Formats: sequence, structure tokens, C-alpha cells
Amino acid sequence: MPDIESLLKEKRTFKPDREFTRQANWNKKQTAEYRAMADKNPERFWAKMAKENVSWFTPWKKVLDWKPPFAKWFVGGKLNVSYNCVDRHLEGENAWRRNKAAIIWEGEPGDTRTITYGELHREICKFANVMKSQGVKKGDRVALYMPMIPELSIAILACTRIGAVHSVVFGGFSAEALRDRINDAGAKLVVTADGGYRRGAPYPLKPAVDEALEGTPSVTSVVTVKRTGEPTRMQAGRDHWWHELTDEASAVCEPAKLDAEHPLFILYTSGTTGKPKGILHTTGGYLTHVTTTAKVLFDLKDSDTFWCTADIGWVTGHSYVVYGILANGATTLMYEGVPTHPGPDRFWDIIERWGVTIFYTAPTAIRTFVRLGDEHPKKHDLSSLRLLGTVGEPINPEAWMWYHRIIGKKKCPIVDTWWQTETGGIMITPLPSSVDTKPGSATNPFPGIDAAIFSEEGNEVDPPNGGYLVIREPWPGMLRGIWGDPKRFKETYWSKYKNIYFTGDGAHRDQDSYFWIMGRVDDVMNISGHRIGTMEVESALVSHTKVAESAVVGRPDSLTGTAIVAFVTPKSGETVDDVLKEELRTHVTKQIGAIAKPKEIRFTDALPKTRSGKIMRRLLRDIASGRSVGDTTTLEDFSVVAKLREGDEA
Ligand code: WTA
Repeated sequence: MPDIESLLKEKRTFKPDREFTRQANWNKKQTAEYRAMADKNPERFWAKMAKENVSWFTPWKKVLDWKPPFAKWFVGGKLNVSYNCVDRHLEGENAWRRNKAAIIWEGEPGDTRTITYGELHREICKFANVMKSQGVKKGDRVALYMPMIPELSIAILACTRIGAVHSVVFGGFSAEALRDRINDAGAKLVVTADGGYRRGAPYPLKPAVDEALEGTPSVTSVVTVKRTGEPTRMQAGRDHWWHELTDEASAVCEPAKLDAEHPLFILYTSGTTGKPKGILHTTGGYLTHVTTTAKVLFDLKDSDTFWCTADIGWVTGHSYVVYGILANGATTLMYEGVPTHPGPDRFWDIIERWGVTIFYTAPTAIRTFVRLGDEHPKKHDLSSLRLLGTVGEPINPEAWMWYHRIIGKKKCPIVDTWWQTETGGIMITPLPSSVDTKPGSATNPFPGIDAAIFSEEGNEVDPPNGGYLVIREPWPGMLRGIWGDPKRFKETYWSKYKNIYFTGDGAHRDQDSYFWIMGRVDDVMNISGHRIGTMEVESALVSHTKVAESAVVGRPDSLTGTAIVAFVTPKSGETVDDVLKEELRTHVTKQIGAIAKPKEIRFTDALPKTRSGKIMRRLLRDIASGRSVGDTTTLEDFSVVAKLREGDEA
């Protein structure tokens, strides 16, 4: 019996566009060569990438030092990340980039700023000098609690310039969550803003910092960006305005020559238990991984305007709003607000006005757009787009098809990229010039990444069966540990299988060896002895014409072990009644079989989500197992419970 059974059968395939392949950074032939090299000798491949895509002050002596579970990449090499992201675009044959846009920023109220590579360089140097004047030294931690404004990218790169370690805390977190993260990292400096804009109104940030700092002995100063101009309390001696300090600072700051394994950043992510894990990434390997993947699978060119919609508070924003994009000398677009302000077409409006060429977003956003209706994207000229991407959760085939048809006009390749905070960069993904895509599959590992599917006992599972997704060999962008907790690091990732990285995701491969990610293994249900991924049932539900979005969880059932409970958001205007319930259950049965038929369907106006857009599954599991609703067909509202729970779910 396979560990996880897969019942979803997706047959559609899409060939790479010939025109696209012709102009790609890696054409078919090159891709095949690199793949062969990486298969034979992954270290050799990564060393070649590190040489080609990253600038080093001192070359490394050894590509990899692997003492499981601790890896060191490019041992002895010295480099600087801000130098790679900015300085090298101002020198030699790249010097023309000085007045090229590095960051195009749009605030939610509609204000915009364009920052050239030359300006970015000056701003980074100035803020690096400000941090030095505040006593920040190489290795010190700096907490960044900011809205999506250019100063966040500037502060990140300024940290890398002097070898300070940044810990970005998403601006949606509470004061308490911020305090825990500041204390765990022992941050010396906090950089924040008076506030930002969201859903058409300013929201405050600095008051949460004040509250957090009531219990953070390590913090000695706070630098605040004036963004909204709302009245802000400043504590003498501790608090400073960004503009006042940077006005006086020198614009000259030499980049520190840092060891390849120097800590670059800490980013907190949730685990199965309450306390967040401080995922640690280091300098040389991480930069090699994100720069290479951005160049190859986003096919980044000098003429591109790249827009990743993720907040920099999450790893996607770190790797593909800031580091991977700027290291390639491309233009990165940053947007401050929500996708639906002032109207449901804000994203399409941004793409049209700035001529965005590459668009990278999350399936949850795509499903929202499906729900809002095709008329919004159709109002806009999206012809500048040449490549689309998704990340964060499995994309259901129907959402993929909508993205392909309505946004990509059937001509843009779609890269469905699987990775994690822990992996640093993209791991499993189509290469747009050479891999046939299938809606819902992340296809194959990037060259140099050894992904496999294991049974509970640790044997590789044969296609088409499912099991646990693992990475067998170290890779450059891999996490180097959990900040301050090597024991938890070993237990969480390296104890299930010996010397093999356990991702916590379930997956299966099809006859063509394509990977299909089935979600976190704790989202896998055991129904009458059959283990079924919640995502497959969700996909089936969403393929029904009246359904906008759904989340499926298991609840204990005396008969079948687990019973499927489906939370369903209907498309706007659809009436919810028992007839629709029966229709949906029949639909799932037809799509994947009676085994996956939901026992209970509950209609909801909106699914409870964390601020990063992840469905709050633990909450839904609790709701589902708490009380059976019988034949209620009203729309339930979970927004209040979701708010109460956000802290521990996010
Ligand atoms: C899920 C986000 C399916 C997965 C970069 C993983 C995905 C978790 C995909 C990491 C994808 C991410 N298809 N599932 N393309 N991308 N996931 O740390 O369960 O916020 O383990 O990193 O998101 O989420 P994280």
C-alpha cells in the first residue's frame, strides 16, 4: 500500500513556446548540458553557477564541506551581497545601469518612486553608515518591521553591506510576536515606519514597536521612516527619524569582505509547535542559489520589469523581490498595498501602466481573481507579460488554466515553483524554455537539486505512488540551522531519515516522473485506510463552476477514521442550498472517486487566512471537529475566530 494515494488525474500538457525558447537565457541545448553536468556532479554545477552569476573578492578553496546536517558552501570564499546586488551594476561594461531603475515602487494611495541603481547605491551606503553610528557591528542582528516601502530593501542591503544580520518581521504581526522575534535574535537595532497604507487607510506600526520594546533588553535604538505622517511618539535617546539620520550620513561606505558562510539573515517561520523557528541563511550559497534560479527560470533580462507580489516579510520577498532580482541587474517592482484597492483591477492596472514583463504571485491570489470575475483583467492591456509564476501552495489545475488563458493569453509560460523558507530558493520548477508543463505540477527539480519521494520506512517510492518529499543532497541555499536551537534543527528536518532533509510535504510523481506536491503531510487525511491529500479534494471542488475557493480538512470519524469536511466559498451571486451541497459531493465523487466524497460541506463567505494568505488549516480543523452543523446552508463567518487565532497560526 502506498503511503499517500493520489487520485487526481490531470492529462493536459503544454509545450514551451518556440519563440520564447529561442530567446531564453538557457536554451534547450544549454539546459540539457547543465542538467547532465548537475546530475553527474552537482558540486561542479553549483561551482560553475557561483562563478558565472556571483562576484567574489576571494575565490573559495572548497566547494562543499558536508558534515550532516551541517553544510558549508564555497569555503574560504569572500564576497559582499550588496556589492553583488548594486555596485557591480555601476562598474565596467555594466556602468550604463547607473540610471536604470532598480526599484519601481508604487504606494497604495497611488504615489510612486523610481530608484535607479546609482541612487540605490547612495541610499544603501548612507544607511549603512547610519547603522554604524548607532553602534551596529558585523554579526549584530537588526530587526526590520516595515511596510512595503523602498526603505525596507535599502535597510536589508545596508545590513549586508556591513555584515549585520537582518531579521525581517512581517508588518502584520502583533507587538507580542515582534517582541518574541526580537528577543530570540537578540536584535540591537529596530528599523520601522510610522505606518503604511492598506485597504485605503493608513495603519500604524511604530506603536507596536513601542509596546514590543517594553520587554526587549537587547535593543538600544530605533530608526523610523516617515511614511504616513500620522502623529508618532518618539522616545528621546532611543528613537530617531530615518530622514534626519540619513541626511547627515556620508554616501561612501566600503562593502565588507565577508566569509561565504557569514550569516546573512534570520527569518521566522511557523512549525508544528507554537514557537516560531528562526531559519538561518548565510551569504555565498544563498546568493548563488537565488541569483541562478532567478536568471534561469524567470529568464531575467535587462529589459525586464519583474513583479513579485509577495511581501518582503516572507521568504519569497527576500529571494525574489530583493536579492535574486537585483543581483541580476533587473528592475524589481514593489507594491505597498492590497490587490483590490481602489478597485478589483489594481494588479492589472499596475501591470499595464509599468509594462510588467514577469509576474510572480500566489495561487490564493489567483483564486481570488477568478472569483472577482474576468472583466477586470480584460479591461487592461496585459500584452507586456511574457512569463508567469506561482508559489506558496499547490495550484489547482482550474486556477492554473485561468491564469494561462486570461492573464497569459495562452502565450506565457507558467512556472509553478516549489520551495520553502528553509530551502532559500526555488527547488522544483519547470524551466520555461525546455519543460512541458502540466497544470498543477511543479514538474522537475532544478538542476543540482536531488529531490525524491520516500515511504515512511525511507525507501524511494516508485511512480505513480505518493509519499514524503525529501532532498537527498545538500544545496547551496539550504538553511544552515535554526537560530540558537541546533537540537530543534536536527529533530525537525534530519531525524525522520538519516542525513536526508525532510521537507514536511507530501508528493507523488507521475508516469513521466513529474512531481505533484500534495501539501504539508499534516494536511494529509487517512480515510478508511487511504491517505488522501486535502489539496486534491480542494482542486476537485474548485473545478465546479459555482465554486470560488475551498479548504478541506479531516475530522475524526468513528466509521472511516477520518471524515472529509469541505469549507466552500461559492462564486459571488450563487445561491447556497442543499441542492448545491449534493451537486458538489457528486462532483467530487466524479472527479476523484467516492473515497474522497466530503461527508460535510460548509459554506463560508471567506476562508480564514493568515496575513500571508495561507489558509488557517489548524483553525478549520478545530472548527470541523468541534461541532457538526447538520444541514445548515447559511454562509458562515469565521473572520472573528480567525483574527483571534492569527498570532499562533501565522
Ligand atoms: C508550500 C514559500 C505546492 C509547501 C516559498 C511548502 C507549495 C510551503 C509550493 C513553504 C508549490 C510552496 N506547490 N506547494 N509551488 N510552494 N508550497 O516556507 O507546502 O512560506 O512546504 O515558503 O509552502 O512555505 P514557505
